[in-house]
Amino acid sequence: MANPSLLILAGDGIGPEVMDEVKKVISWMGDNRGVTFDVSEDLVGGAAYDKHGVPLADATMDKAQEVDAVLLGAVGGPAYDDLDFSVKPERGLLRLRKEMDLFANLRPAQCFDALSDFSSLKPELVAGLDIMIVRELTSGVYFGEPRGIHIEDNMRVGVNTQRYTEAEIERGARAAFELAMKRDKKLCSMEKANVMESGILWRDVVTEVSADYPQVELSHMYADNGAMQLVRAPKQFDVIYTDNLFGDILSDCAAMLTGSLGMLPSASLGLPMANGRPKAMYEPVHGSAPDITGMGKANPIACILSFAMALRYSFDMGDEATMVENAVEKVLADGARTADLMGPEGGTPISTTQMGDAILAALGAAA
Ligand code: IPM
Ligand code: MG
Repeated sequence: MANPSLLILAGDGIGPEVMDEVKKVISWMGDNRGVTFDVSEDLVGGAAYDKHGVPLADATMDKAQEVDAVLLGAVGGPAYDDLDFSVKPERGLLRLRKEMDLFANLRPAQCFDALSDFSSLKPELVAGLDIMIVRELTSGVYFGEPRGIHIEDNMRVGVNTQRYTEAEIERGARAAFELAMKRDKKLCSMEKANVMESGILWRDVVTEVSADYPQVELSHMYADNGAMQLVRAPKQFDVIYTDNLFGDILSDCAAMLTGSLGMLPSASLGLPMANGRPKAMYEPVHGSAPDITGMGKANPIACILSFAMALRYSFDMGDEATMVENAVEKVLADGARTADLMGPEGGTPISTTQMGDAILAALGAAA
């Protein structure tokens, strides 16, 4: 069988720095686990705009459709803030999600024991936290038509449309129920059925799908209450299923509970390809962090854990994924901390590269 293929789109800001550490882990898998990845690289976001005048070239889009998985770093930065909306770096990312049809965005929020003091919540509220947010990623207000800014009665009007078909709600719900089956069998669906018709449909469709998953305990929550519950008592949740916009917000909120946005990976999955693997893109939840770009301060863990998710969800390498996750846990337990993980008691942070090397060393020691 051909080697598994990866397309790396490191993007902007700290994207390339954290991706350099991931490349070491990819090579390690080739040297130590006998799985050699065919890796190609290309541009996305501002980096693509600088070269091609668009945040994602058509040729890059074609490549993304062909590979087994895409690894993305981050997009955006102040240099691109004033660009026309249609060529902003974020449009490159949204094009990938839409054209690859990556409807199920998995955003786990796990609190490592060594970091429970770093959460904005009391340690006992987050110790052992392990929740999975499934965010619908290809529809809703991010893509709904009509949209735009137009003039009405001499006044500018901004329009976006929240739109969901039952098929869109259903396929994401199935992904969420399947995950719940492999976890604690609890699913909480979040919408605003009290004010939005799309929320009423969401609740109805998720309830219909639940008939196929009688073992999963389904609950419904308004998304605003969900946000409150996430910061009040996050351990009540196992899997959360929610729409594109609410998922964007709730996943940042959940991420912060774990101590740092620099820790959280994500997987965006679509339909199975001819080889049985799902269309897939893996990216850290954090952004391009222009304030620390090029300073060696970025935490590469979110990006490395995103590659671990690729091992698990694209390449059926669950053992290797666990090895990477354990290596991360080990270095944190041993006290390795990048700048974002400096608690009030201070200490000396290690660099992006040092964190990557520590994780490799832990992998090596465990193997
Ligand atoms: C995310 C990001 C993106 C989003 C931006 C960069 C377009 O915030 O992945 O959560 O809004 O989806
Ligand atoms: Mg976001």
